[in-house]
Amino acid sequence: MAHRWTNDLTQDDVTPEHLYMNRRQIMLAAAAGVGLAGLGARANAEEALVPNPWEDITQYNNFYEFGTGKGDPAANAGALTTDPWTVKIDGMVDTPGDYAFKDIMAAMTIEERIYRLRCVEAWSMIVPWNGFELADLLEMAGVQPEAKYVRFETLVRPEEMIGQKYRTIEWPYVEGLRLDEAMHPLTIMATGIYGKTIPNQNGAPIRLVVPWKYGFKSIKSIVRITLTDQEPLNTWQQILPNEYGFYANVNPSVDHPRWTQATERKIGGGLFSKRVPTLMFNGYEKEVAGLYDGMDLARFY
Ligand code: MTE
Repeated sequence: MAHRWTNDLTQDDVTPEHLYMNRRQIMLAAAAGVGLAGLGARANAEEALVPNPWEDITQYNNFYEFGTGKGDPAANAGALTTDPWTVKIDGMVDTPGDYAFKDIMAAMTIEERIYRLRCVEAWSMIVPWNGFELADLLEMAGVQPEAKYVRFETLVRPEEMIGQKYRTIEWPYVEGLRLDEAMHPLTIMATGIYGKTIPNQNGAPIRLVVPWKYGFKSIKSIVRITLTDQEPLNTWQQILPNEYGFYANVNPSVDHPRWTQATERKIGGGLFSKRVPTLMFNGYEKEVAGLYDGMDLARFY
């Protein structure tokens, strides 16, 4: 299938691979730095304004299925069996069924997309993904006219996902998109990163990437995709509805209740590098603003 979208970023923009892979350590170091700033040793108005994201990151893990500790995903995700892997596509589709991952891969055209990734906690990276457009997969299954939303689920397998032995969140991890967001050519299912298979801790063998939304929408290790007419209740909205909504569009003018979203820190820019302005829809305004015409984005956050 031909490319339907032209990248604005090149390999030169990409965050070096070791920084993507080791960002937990980098963020811990940054958090330690902010701690010092808090003591006044390196007081800096900019740091003092937004200490929360960094504190939160230190306690925060981005693949809860493998635990909530800082190094847990990298330490524990090796246990996950990713082959064979099946994705159930069901709900309002013409051909519901269990699709083998290898059959999906054979049917889809894999391409590289270099995207900005903006975490809700105000750090960002530029990542080269390999994957295919979600629209191609949904078209293969045949979306029925009543469908309005797409709901995604991560695997539940506590024997291999040790974080699932605890009810830290309601398993499975759930995410959702409006159908027009899911069909947008920027929305991809990623199967590779930096030209390699996605490491287990980053969502092998298949995860969602929606570059104009905060990173938590990028649900990992997907086993079920359901076409529905109901807005899905996504995991973070379920846990903290005042902080995380359904849309999660990157928006510098709608702050998180505990910190500003106007600026972000680029991973790889150095621990005390200046924060850079966050771009509306993470720089994809031209492509996606039309999806939200007339919507109050402060209300639908
Ligand atoms: N998917 C599942 N199944 N479980 C998770 O805990 N964390 C989310 C998202 N997808 C998460 C998930 C969050 S909060 C972020 S920021 C991204 O994954 C991180 O993806 P990364 O490994 O590329 O940083």
